[in-house]
Amino acid sequence: MEVVIVPDAKAGGELIADAIGALVNRKPDALLGVATGSTPLPIYHALREKVRSGALDVSRVRICQLDEYVGLPAGHPESYRSVVLREVVGPLGLPEESFMGPDGSAEDIPAACEAYDKALAEAGGVDIQILGIGTDGHIGFNEPCSSLSSRTRIKTLTEQTRIDNARFFDGDISQVPYHVITQGIGTILEARHPILLATGEGKADAVAQTVEGPIASVVPASALQLHPHATVVVDKAAASKLKLADYFRATYATKPSWQGL
Ligand code: PGA
Repeated sequence: MEVVIVPDAKAGGELIADAIGALVNRKPDALLGVATGSTPLPIYHALREKVRSGALDVSRVRICQLDEYVGLPAGHPESYRSVVLREVVGPLGLPEESFMGPDGSAEDIPAACEAYDKALAEAGGVDIQILGIGTDGHIGFNEPCSSLSSRTRIKTLTEQTRIDNARFFDGDISQVPYHVITQGIGTILEARHPILLATGEGKADAVAQTVEGPIASVVPASALQLHPHATVVVDKAAASKLKLADYFRATYATKPSWQGL
């Protein structure tokens, strides 16, 4: 995989927004897979700026969701559907119909998961999939020991992930659902270009294991090593445990300009 070390989160957001811009210019109706959490916010901010300044037309872009809590009432402000509408779809001026995600309030969760995988395939597959990473190495909500060929399905969050996410629920862990629907690792690997952004020292161990460790389901993000075109963008702090950091810096500095991200 390609590892790009950037000075800070803002630079990471701008770099990834540029890659999305290049995609949309060559494929105006691209299917963009978005992630929630704090890390991707600089990407959405940079994308909004491009649209606001008239540098990019995203009017035909389609957006799809990576994961969703199970059991939150429809319209709950922290359901990932609400978050993506608030952070991405609305600010980019896209109609709600351009957005799809799994139904976390479905009565038949397995059927909703299967329907979502089918919908992604019928939409032509994801072009760029933005990913964050959990402190435990999860991508989407594929917690440690998820099958590396998993499809969209229900998962149970680890205690650590529920603690990490309690900040979105007034710091009250009892409000964080136990269950989620997440695109599986196999589903994520079908995206044409997964781009993982990690920032801050808290992610340094997970990044090092993802990039330089063995492929292992105990570090779900390490499955990206199997993808022919996966990019990991990290700020200095998140890169601080990479043994090959100097090599990654030199590789990016000398990268042929025609190659893009
Ligand atoms: P964060 O979440 O960006 O809020 O740290 C990342 C994740 O859990 O995937």
